[in-house]
Parts: sequence; C-alpha cells; structure tokens
Amino acid sequence: MFMDECVGVFHLWLLVSCFSPLRLSFRCLVRKYGCDMCFTPMIVAADFMRSVKARDSEFTTNSSDRPLIIQFAAKDAQTLADAACVVAPFSDGVDLNCGCPQRWAVAEGYGACLINKPQLVKDMVRHVKNQVEKPNYAVSIKIRIHKDLRKTVDLCQKVEAAGVSWITVHGRTPEERHQPVHYDAIKTIKDSLSIPVIANGDIKNLQDVESIHQLTGVDGMPTEMTLQWTAVALFLYVEIGILVILCLPFISPQRWQKIFNLSIWNSIGHFWNKGFLAMIIILIVLFLDAVREVRKYSGTQPSKEAMPSMYDHLHMKLFRAQRNLYISGFTLFLWLVMRRVIMLINQLAVANNTSKALHAQTEAANQAARQYMEDIEQLKQALTDDAEGGNRGQKNELLRKEVQKLTEELKISDEALKKSTSEVQVMKKQTESLTKEYDRLLQEHQKLQVTDFL
Ligand SMILES: Cc1cc2nc3c(=O)[nH]c(=O)nc-3n(C[C@H](O)[C@H](O)[C@H](O)COP(=O)(O)O)c2cc1C
Repeated sequence: MFMDECVGVFHLWLLVSCFSPLRLSFRCLVRKYGCDMCFTPMIVAADFMRSVKARDSEFTTNSSDRPLIIQFAAKDAQTLADAACVVAPFSDGVDLNCGCPQRWAVAEGYGACLINKPQLVKDMVRHVKNQVEKPNYAVSIKIRIHKDLRKTVDLCQKVEAAGVSWITVHGRTPEERHQPVHYDAIKTIKDSLSIPVIANGDIKNLQDVESIHQLTGVDGMPTEMTLQWTAVALFLYVEIGILVILCLPFISPQRWQKIFNLSIWNSIGHFWNKGFLAMIIILIVLFLDAVREVRKYSGTQPSKEAMPSMYDHLHMKLFRAQRNLYISGFTLFLWLVMRRVIMLINQLAVANNTSKALHAQTEAANQAARQYMEDIEQLKQALTDDAEGGNRGQKNELLRKEVQKLTEELKISDEALKKSTSEVQVMKKQTESLTKEYDRLLQEHQKLQVTDFL
C-alpha cells in the first residue's frame, strides 16, 4: 500500500461514520492493533467553521488519538486554512479530499472535481502551510487520476511545489467505481515526484499491501491465501477426504447406513439442514465474489513491455481471482455432491436390504415352485398311469372279448373235436369191423383157396 518513505504507515479511512465518539473509539481500537496514523472521515470545512455544534458533532479526540490527520472537503483556500488552524492543536495535519466522486460533493465543488483545478488546490495547500503556526504540521491531498495522466502528473507537481507533504492517489478516474485500479498510473505519478505517494484502491489485505508496494520494482509476488480463502480451501480438502472415504469399495452401503443411523447424528440433525443451507449461501457469495474479481481483472491489461511489474501484478491478481473461483466453485459443487452421495448410499443400502429380502422370497418361491413341479410331475405320472390304466382296461376288454371269442371258438372246436372224435370212434369201429370182416373174408378166401387146391 505504501511507496517509498511511507512504508510502515498504515493508511486507514474511517468508515465508522454515524457518531463522532464512535469514530474516536474506532481510531483508539485500531491504534491498539498497531495502526501508525489515523485519518478522520471527510469533514466539510465550511460547515465545520460555521458552528460549534457542527465542530462538536464532526470531531472529537483525546490525548492518545495521535498521530491524527483531519480530512477536509473545501473549495476555497481560506476556509480550509481556517479549519486547519482550528484543528491544528489536536492534530498532526490536514488532508484535502480531491477524490470524492459523490454527486453531491462534485455538484458543490468539492472532492474529485478539484483535480481539474490545480491552481486552486495549490493555493489551498499554500494557505494552510502559511497560516498554521506549527512547523511540522502536514498538509496532504487525496486525488483521483485523470484519463489523461499528464494532467494528474501536472497537478501533483504543482502541489509538490506548493509544499504538500504527501499525496494519496486513488488509482481510478472519478467515473470509475469497481474497475481495476491503475497502479501503473500511481507508479508514473510516484516516479515523477520526490514526495511520498500513498497508493489507494482495491487494497483489501496485507498481501495486497505488499504486492502493490513491490510494484515499485522488487521481484516476486506473494501468492499466499487470505484467511478466508485458506478456510475455504481447507473445507474443500475435507470434502474431498470425506468423499474418498465414502467411495471406498470395501465399506458396504449397509455399514454406512449403520454409521449414518448412529444417535450422534440425531443430535446434530436439527442443525444439519440449516447448516447445509447456510454453507451453500456462504459458498455462493464467495463464488460470485470470485466471479466478479475474475471479470474485473480479465479486462484490458497494460502491455508487458511498457509496465512489466504492473502487468505481473494484474496477472497475479487475475491468477488469485481464478484460483478463488475454482476453490469456491469446487467446494460448492462437492458440498452438493457429498449430500447427494450420502443420500444415494442410504438409498442403496435400503435397496440392497430390499433386494436381499426379495432374494430370500424368490428362493422360497423357487423352492415352492420346485415342489409344485415335482407334484405336477407326480400328478402327470399319475394321470399317465391312469390313462395307461384305461388302455389296459380296453385291452383287457378286448382280451376278454378275445378270450370269450376264443373260448367260444374253443367250445366250437371242442364240440367239433368231440364230433370228430366220435366220428373217428365210429370210423374206428367201422374200421375194426371192416378189419374183422376183411380178416374173416381173408380167412374164408384162404379156406376157399385151400379147398380149391385140394
Ligand atoms: C462508504 C464510503 C465512504 C468513504 N469515505 C471516504 C472519506 O471520507 N474520505 C476519503 O478520502 N475516502 C473515502 N472513501 C473512499 C475510500 O477511502 C477509498 O478511497 C476507496 O474506497 C478505495 O477503493 P476500493 O474500494 O477499491 O478499495 C469512502 C468510500 C466508501 C465506500
């Protein structure tokens, strides 16, 4: 934040603006933490001089409130010098605000419009220097820059010649609000002066103080993270660790479910949803802030050849903004993923349990089905047997009929046989009688033959 001789002096604009005693309390507080010098907020010199009441409400101090610079808004040299004379016993210097861009101030002829009136500013500085009877009493100015930097350099050189103690440069034009600060312009101004120059604008932490200080030429840029982003990065690592553990293949969903169902989670369960939402909101805010920063520094960059340190500085700022964007983006993303993974593991465990139960049921059903199949087989067999039994009956019937038929045939054959037998008997008897007759006839024939012979 500081250049050159001003290194070590902490430039603090007091934004505690409601009550003067509050501003004093704030100054006392920051001094306890090592603030070297405090500035009051801008006080309109003309109002300050107009009434005691205005003075009392705008400015209170005590013996420990030093070193102290009183900042005034003024548009004529004598009023500023008068105000400086009033506060001189209680302060170490006055600062003329030539940087306030607020519409009311510019319309009244205060603040940033003074950068276009170098002669007036020079006169104001000179008047204070000449009229305050304190040898080392400081007179400083705070300015914004012109689009045409030569005008700013000209203004600064004029007030330097008038005896200004230092110049604070807010490195933006009066029209600019949140655009990147033109540190190159501050450096140019610094290079063209021999008094201390205080850089102002977009300085949020000690790193910024150091890096902007280093823009004067020292190599190396700090890249450490602020506490806030360190916390977010730590949170990101914790999320990654938890997700890795959740994804370990040898821990079953059922085991996780048992862990999730532990009573310890019930006790924090009430805060879980609120905490989850709060975390999302915080991360979204950080993410949007990082997006804003990236957009801010992604714009036009100074040429590397013309302003190498400025180029490096803006690149470092862009790098930090992008790093913060990734950190907050991934943290937000993993935060949502983690919740979903836990839900899915629970669902998977339930599904596994259900599938086990179904499997058991299916086994039982299969068993029953097998039993039924066997029964059916047996029934089929029985039916087949029954069917076969029917055929045998038929066959038996046929056989019975056959037997009957054969019996009848047998009877007929038997009768025929009997008949034949009787006929054979008859024929036998006839044959016997014929044989006997033949024998007798044969005997008679023999007898006759014998007789004839004889
Ligand atoms: C609410 C508010 C009040 C301010 N009051 C003063 C002031 O009284 N005097 C002054 O010199 N600058 C004042 N400033 C300007 C800051 O001191 C500082 O120059 C500016 O905010 C730097 O830009 P940054 O916001 O990018 O850091 C004020 C800024 C804000 C936002």
